[in-house]
Amino acid sequence: MEKPFILHMLTTAKNLSPFDANMALDAGWIHALSYLNVEPSEVQGLVQDVIFSRSLKNLQRTGIFIGGRDTKQAMDMLKSAKRSMFAPFEVSVFADPSGAFTTAAGMVALAENELITKFHTTLEAKNILVLGGTGPVGQVASVIAAQAGAHVRMIGRQLDKAQNIADMCNNEFGEGKITILAGVDADKAEYIKTTDLVFATGAAGIELLGAELVASAPLLKVAADVNAVPPAGIAGVDAFQNGTPIKGSNSGAVGLGAMAIGNIKYQVQNLLLKSMIHTEKPVFLHFEHAFEMARNYLKPVA
Ligand SMILES: NC(=O)c1ccc[n+]([C@@H]2O[C@H](COP(=O)([O-])OP(=O)(O)OC[C@H]3O[C@@H](n4cnc5c(N)ncnc54)[C@H](OP(=O)(O)O)[C@@H]3O)[C@@H](O)[C@H]2O)c1
Repeated sequence: MEKPFILHMLTTAKNLSPFDANMALDAGWIHALSYLNVEPSEVQGLVQDVIFSRSLKNLQRTGIFIGGRDTKQAMDMLKSAKRSMFAPFEVSVFADPSGAFTTAAGMVALAENELITKFHTTLEAKNILVLGGTGPVGQVASVIAAQAGAHVRMIGRQLDKAQNIADMCNNEFGEGKITILAGVDADKAEYIKTTDLVFATGAAGIELLGAELVASAPLLKVAADVNAVPPAGIAGVDAFQNGTPIKGSNSGAVGLGAMAIGNIKYQVQNLLLKSMIHTEKPVFLHFEHAFEMARNYLKPVA
């Protein structure tokens, strides 16, 4: 008899995200088992319990998902899971803490698509302001955009916090090959004068870029806002906006709202969860794979 598809879902938080549980079952996993309050040091033991209890054939029907809220911790847990396995006793692992990897990937890929289709350019050498950039979504959006060649400035309310997090992103996620700069929210009127793209990734329900600053951005091309809770993170960008001009932008910038970004995030997470089921060889998925998947999803069909 064929064994069921089992996804072991690890989180360092008190609760597993119901969003992630729904996503797993809707993608075709038959059982989504939650492991709560997991200590990163427990990953090795849990992973080895997973791999030694099924035949090689049934290991292909087994996977691990890593949630939680902390991006670096989730990447460390993914690496630890990979290190804990050895061929042929391996299963696929996918990290998406706080949905940040798939959300950031969806936002950056959508913004890049707007640059290509409406402005005939790319992310290369563009100046990007990531407002509220110190949270999980902002960190990963900053890294993905910097890896795509953009000049990224991560903005927070306190410079030392933003600097520490930008340094962590450069060293841990970018392996020292990217340079995300830090900036303080109080200086955004100055930064906006040379900004090509804005990503609003702050906590829900907070306006981070007002109408006056939108109007004062001479180079602004794309403004993307992940916050679905009113008021919008960027004045003039509504949650359903998907590449239409922003009212009040003097540079002809287009807006991307939370629902448009959320749709790509959903598709990417669904496709990555499915890819774990259908792969012959185990895959180890994180934000780089999410971005690749989002780019492919948005690629026009030839
Ligand atoms: N559309 C989607 O599919 C989707 C999916 C997932 C998440 N989201 C949304 O994405 C956004 C970012 O999520 P996250 O978990 O990364 O965010 P978060 O950690 O809750 O917040 C991000 C940053 O916002 C800043 N912030 C907090 N309170 C603030 C305030 N009162 N005024 C100004 N700034 C404030 C903080 O930065 P400083 O302390 O450094 O200033 C914080 O690090 C949220 O709005 C979330 O709802 C959307």
